[in-house]
Amino acid sequence: MPGSNASTSPFGTSNINQPRPWALPAIDQILEKGKTTFFDDDVDRQRARVIEDTLKMLGAPVKVVEINRGPTITQFGVEPDFIETRGSRTRVRVAKIASLVDDLALALSARTIRVEAPVPGKGYIGIEVPNEQIALVTLRDVVESDAFRRLKSPLRFALGQDVAGNAVAADLSAMPHLLIAGQTGSGKSVCVNSLICCLLLHNTPDDLRLIMVDPKRVELTNYNGIPHLLAPVVVETEKVVGVLQWVLREMDMRYHKLAQVGARNIVEYNARLDATTDGKEKKLPKLVVFIDELADLMMLAPDETQGAITRLAQLSRATGIHLVIATQRPSVEVVTGIIKANFPARIAFAVASNTDSRVILDQPGAERLLGRGDMLFQAPDAPASIRLQGTYVSDNEILTLVSYWQSFFPSTSLAPSMAGGIPDAIPSGIPLTQMPLWEDMQAQEDKDPLLEEAIDLSRRQGRASVSMLQRRLRIGYTRSSRLVEAMQEKGVIGKETGPLGYEILDYGQAAPPVEES
Ligand SMILES: Nc1ncnc2c1ncn2[C@@H]1O[C@H](COP(=O)(O)OP(=O)(O)OP(=O)(O)O)[C@@H](O)[C@H]1O
Ligand SMILES: [Mg+2]
Repeated sequence: MPGSNASTSPFGTSNINQPRPWALPAIDQILEKGKTTFFDDDVDRQRARVIEDTLKMLGAPVKVVEINRGPTITQFGVEPDFIETRGSRTRVRVAKIASLVDDLALALSARTIRVEAPVPGKGYIGIEVPNEQIALVTLRDVVESDAFRRLKSPLRFALGQDVAGNAVAADLSAMPHLLIAGQTGSGKSVCVNSLICCLLLHNTPDDLRLIMVDPKRVELTNYNGIPHLLAPVVVETEKVVGVLQWVLREMDMRYHKLAQVGARNIVEYNARLDATTDGKEKKLPKLVVFIDELADLMMLAPDETQGAITRLAQLSRATGIHLVIATQRPSVEVVTGIIKANFPARIAFAVASNTDSRVILDQPGAERLLGRGDMLFQAPDAPASIRLQGTYVSDNEILTLVSYWQSFFPSTSLAPSMAGGIPDAIPSGIPLTQMPLWEDMQAQEDKDPLLEEAIDLSRRQGRASVSMLQRRLRIGYTRSSRLVEAMQEKGVIGKETGPLGYEILDYGQAAPPVEES
């Protein structure tokens, strides 16, 4: 992996006509340093006393045994005490403490309080009280933490800080897909942006390609013009099903490639390619598809969207394709059971009701979150969700990172969205090789110019097959299989008959080939 290129000017476009080789940005040139917030231990001790006094008064005495201060909330770990009932000593029931949250909130004059009973791995009940002052968790805080550095995957990303202020990071390739839900203003887009920024900080376009879908047109269009994008940010809802189908075809094509060399997954495939071709052959990049607002798509084309997303989610892990989907509407019509079943990694931001929380996490709790990045993260293999304050990435940081990557295209000025143009226009000046997606979709809409040649060739060969067309026409698997489909539709060829491929039904003007005996 190339190192950072702090020595050569990262934003320079010195050699105007020569594309520079990819180099990763230096983190300290992109991300801003966080500020340390000071807090008052006295406030915590005072609150601990209020908790003990209030619960005692309500007949549920507890002892505060631990205080953890996080960026947004402070967690008071409490142990139930004993009470005397009819001569015998019994412990206060956990359920009793949990039922008193509203009284506690009133006593502490807190907006909402969440009780976690018990805290997994700890012997106490967690009472989470909002801090008076909320500390910002910057992306840099987490990216430079040990928790982040420990992860070696190129798709690692910063999530935030937990209730004790410890940095938490995760690995997208292990998830392998992520569902993010929460009401408006709760922090979904900020979360998606910090995930994208983490990926852009650690991956060149050779290693990672992105597809972004943003029906709202304001959340992701800033990324237009970076070389990782396979196509400009897709903003038209009608185009999305086509995009998803393209990704499905790409997945099939990748499976085909893996099968050809007998690799089980993309990592194995790339390693083998490196070893056998000395790195001359292009490696398969990872592909991450971002959808910021699933609801719009599910309204327009529920069956196609759900079908494509579930098929991708079920099959794409081995081929290095990952989905990140956000939605404002965690209802069962949008986040359907089948979609949910395929997204074991989920983030819930603040939601309006515990019904919404159940839709996302299968349990209540998200209705008690505070908004603005306060989240519950459910890791795919974890028994319970953890509460985090999400990382914040500023528009300025995003802009710096975007212009860093844009600077690799000498002729590209700023993307139209930033230059004040139409946000969804294809940025001008970007080499066409950046957009095979578009070419491909175009070819699908229009008739493939190679169709006549493919028909002619197949008639002369007396058979047709995807691999034959691939070889003879020097085209990719995807395009070749579409040509075969088109020939089938036209009735030129029939069914697949064994390893030799498809039989020819219509020989047209050409004479059938002479059978060799
Ligand atoms: N992690 C965070 N730290 C601090 N502030 C945050 C964080 N996340 C979000 N915010 C604040 O909340 C605002 C709204 O966040 P964001 O745009 O991500 O919401 P959203 O969930 O995408 O909403 P919508 O559904 O309307 O698109 C941000 O502009 C920011 O001020
Ligand atoms: Mg948003």
